[in-house]
Amino acid sequence: MNKKILITGGAGFIGSHVVRLFVNKYPEYTIYNLDVLTYAGNLENLRDVEKKSNYVFIKADITNENQINEIFDEFKFDSVIHLAAESHVDRSIKDPLAFARTNILGTMILLNAFNRLWSNNWSNKRFYHVSTDEVYGSLGLTGLFTEDTSYDPNSPYSASKASSDHFVRAYGETYGMPYVISNCSNNYGPNHFPEKLIPLFINNIINKKSLPVYGDGNYTRDWLYVIDHAIGIDTVFHNGANAETYNIGGFNEWKNIDLVKLLCSLMDTKLSREPGDSERLITYVKDRPGHDLRYAIDATKINKELGWCPTVTFEEGLAKTIDWYFDNKEWLNNVTSGEYQNYYKEYYN
Ligand code: NAD
Ligand code: TYD
Repeated sequence: MNKKILITGGAGFIGSHVVRLFVNKYPEYTIYNLDVLTYAGNLENLRDVEKKSNYVFIKADITNENQINEIFDEFKFDSVIHLAAESHVDRSIKDPLAFARTNILGTMILLNAFNRLWSNNWSNKRFYHVSTDEVYGSLGLTGLFTEDTSYDPNSPYSASKASSDHFVRAYGETYGMPYVISNCSNNYGPNHFPEKLIPLFINNIINKKSLPVYGDGNYTRDWLYVIDHAIGIDTVFHNGANAETYNIGGFNEWKNIDLVKLLCSLMDTKLSREPGDSERLITYVKDRPGHDLRYAIDATKINKELGWCPTVTFEEGLAKTIDWYFDNKEWLNNVTSGEYQNYYKEYYN
């Protein structure tokens, strides 16, 4: 099959791993990476695939309707794998409208463009929307998010993602657009922008800066290695049933404070520092407003129906992640100079 696949947000953290996987695994497909290159988009993430003949980069903004329509008319993509988004909860608290614009309006503009192109011939077409478990809101101390859990988002980020999920379903119901959605837990791994917990703390430990743990640190997240998410996206894209949702997660829950202490001890070893050196950097700071207590995914459906399961344990994944940041100091320096310093001051000082 000769497919023309549009991947949006392919220069970002997860998107770059998805682009790499598809470009290398499917030489018969053409992979179009559409990205506007916000602070989170970085073409350095894709240096190893940029010269491949089945890879095309398109710099464009999903909120620009005319530009998106022209691009769809020109390239006539058979499928879309949509990852482009504003993705950081803390930023969404400061600037919710930016999240509504990109995550809701941007998704609708893509849905409209795809609908304009194919509404008379949906055969072999697919709109795949990549979403988050945060749409389900917060769990108490027990229970897991299943595909039937009601949406109950609490942050502007998760509300905007929930809204975009609803629009994707609505286009399926209303216009017959073939779609699939996956909702994944927290990712970690190489190329993660150092505003999210794990890469931020790796960078701060390297620089002996304080580690700002929100509230009492007893918040729980379910962590998945990013390449396992990319493999999950490949699986759902090719084998997921139409109009279905799949939850993706690694059954790997960690309280923030336990995860931070593990990271500190791995970093002490890596940096040949005294045990306990990094832990002394932990500083409890003001809590995030509306902070969700716990996320945890029940990934039984994707496992049973599509045979997906994580390939990397948390211990292996964290070690690989730390190694990557040490082997890519230039990447880290580039993304933490300039504008990042203003971000850091605004959010943490
Ligand atoms: P990211 O912030 O690292 O990357 C987002 C990418 O989208 C960037 O390359 C950015 O330049 C691009 N982008 C932003 N606005 C755009 C616009 N208007 N037009 C075109 N491109 C634009 O995000 P990520 O962590 O890689 O997340 C990717 C997707 O996966 C998001 O939809 C997110 O909601 C979802 N997700 C993320 C996680 C996670 O833990 N990071 C977990 C589950 C789901
Ligand atoms: P984050 O990586 O921002 O992902 P999300 O909010 O989407 O789950 O945060 C993960 C957890 O770590 C979350 O409970 C908030 C917490 N956290 C801190 O304690 N300090 C920080 O500086 C950051 C960025 C997050």
